[in-house]
Amino acid sequence: MSNEVLNAIRERRSVRSFSTRHVEDSLLDQILEAGTWAASAMNRQPAKIVCVTREEDRRQLSRMNAAVMGSDKDPYYGAPCIIIVLVDSASATGREDGSLVLGNMMLAAHSLGLGSCWINREREMFATDEGKALLKKWGIEDDLTGVGALALGYPAVPQAEGKPRKSDYIVKVE
Ligand SMILES: Cc1cc2nc3c(=O)[nH]c(=O)nc-3n(C[C@H](O)[C@H](O)[C@H](O)COP(=O)(O)O)c2cc1C
Repeated sequence: MSNEVLNAIRERRSVRSFSTRHVEDSLLDQILEAGTWAASAMNRQPAKIVCVTREEDRRQLSRMNAAVMGSDKDPYYGAPCIIIVLVDSASATGREDGSLVLGNMMLAAHSLGLGSCWINREREMFATDEGKALLKKWGIEDDLTGVGALALGYPAVPQAEGKPRKSDYIVKVE
């Protein structure tokens, strides 16, 4: 593979250990914008991206996410930023569209020297009264369903190489 996009696709790994280093707004804004350029069915853009850096809110998200699993560990690995992707609940392709938004942002983060990890369980979290109240608190009144989130920050340790891809991943029909 031999261009920057292909290299980023190959080299990006999930990061689960973050330094306390502040993520500059200029980088964060580029990552968020990359999410907005994701393809969506009929270009409906049903996703909403919520970037959370305030500690009080991150703690609440962590507690809510852990509660879905019945755990008391921080599912966001102490990341200084949590980026949540939700979609219009009425969208028939919301989950697909929202997943592409998350994928774009993971690659953008990697390309800028940041690390990220997709974190699950936002669907359950934002189906609760507490989740809906949190959206209201953030000024979001739309009827939204959670797709996923990114834990985002500077990696605390060098990123490991990816595991080999499974041998029967690709079928070429010729
Ligand atoms: C839909 C989805 C949900 C995931 N949920 C979690 C999660 O809750 N916690 C976590 O640590 N990693 C989660 N991951 C990250 C995967 O574990 C990771 O992508 C996979 O192990 C491959 O590693 P790589 O991203 O380094 O290639 C999730 C990834 C996807 C695509």
